[in-house]
Amino acid sequence: MRVLIACEFSGAVRRAFRERGHDAWSCDLLPAEDGSPYHLQTDAIHASYGMLHLDPWELMICHPPCTHLSVSGARWFKKKTVEQLEALAFVKTLLAAPIHHIALENPISIISSRIRKPDQVIQPWQFGHGETKATCLWLKNLPKLTPTKIVEGREARVHRAPPGPDRWKERSRTLQGIADAMADQWGSLAIERAA
Ligand SMILES: C[S@@+](CC[C@H](N)C(=O)[O-])C[C@H]1O[C@@H](n2cnc3c(N)ncnc32)[C@H](O)[C@@H]1O
Repeated sequence: MRVLIACEFSGAVRRAFRERGHDAWSCDLLPAEDGSPYHLQTDAIHASYGMLHLDPWELMICHPPCTHLSVSGARWFKKKTVEQLEALAFVKTLLAAPIHHIALENPISIISSRIRKPDQVIQPWQFGHGETKATCLWLKNLPKLTPTKIVEGREARVHRAPPGPDRWKERSRTLQGIADAMADQWGSLAIERAA
């Protein structure tokens, strides 16, 4: 399956798909943290709307920045109307990309009130990580993710990362259990469709 993981510097979801035999690529304005050759350092809109030398994508999973969208930053909202509109336009454009299966992931955010409610809200503790961090999924032609391993432990993920310039990276990196669930459950769609 041809898979694009948009707005991913870590390679977590890309690796999960590639390990299962898919032709998966990540893309981000930043370079790939793992130095993978299967990373496009480019704008997600450019990558998702078609790079002429590449075959079409069948599935896209996107992790757009939540800086101007997240409800946890609500007290700053009045001061950043323009940034918010731009961030919402970016999300809308990704959701409208010409790709059959799309999942877009974000924390609790104004996407819910300004575009539409998410199709699913997942938690790390449903996928083997003893942490809480509500993660919303907007889905197009994809089933909801089934929890793979419900564990004890409800520590808020956001409070664990130490301060520093790379704190946002630690907080935003997709967790392994969720990456594996996406690759296992959504990666099999191509096989089912072909059958
Ligand atoms: C919330 S982080 C997601 C990180 C992801 N979960 C991971 O494991 O790498 C958002 C990412 O979007 C990237 N980004 C921002 N604007 C972008 C754009 N126009 N095209 C592609 N990537 C973009 C940022 O560089 C950042 O790495």
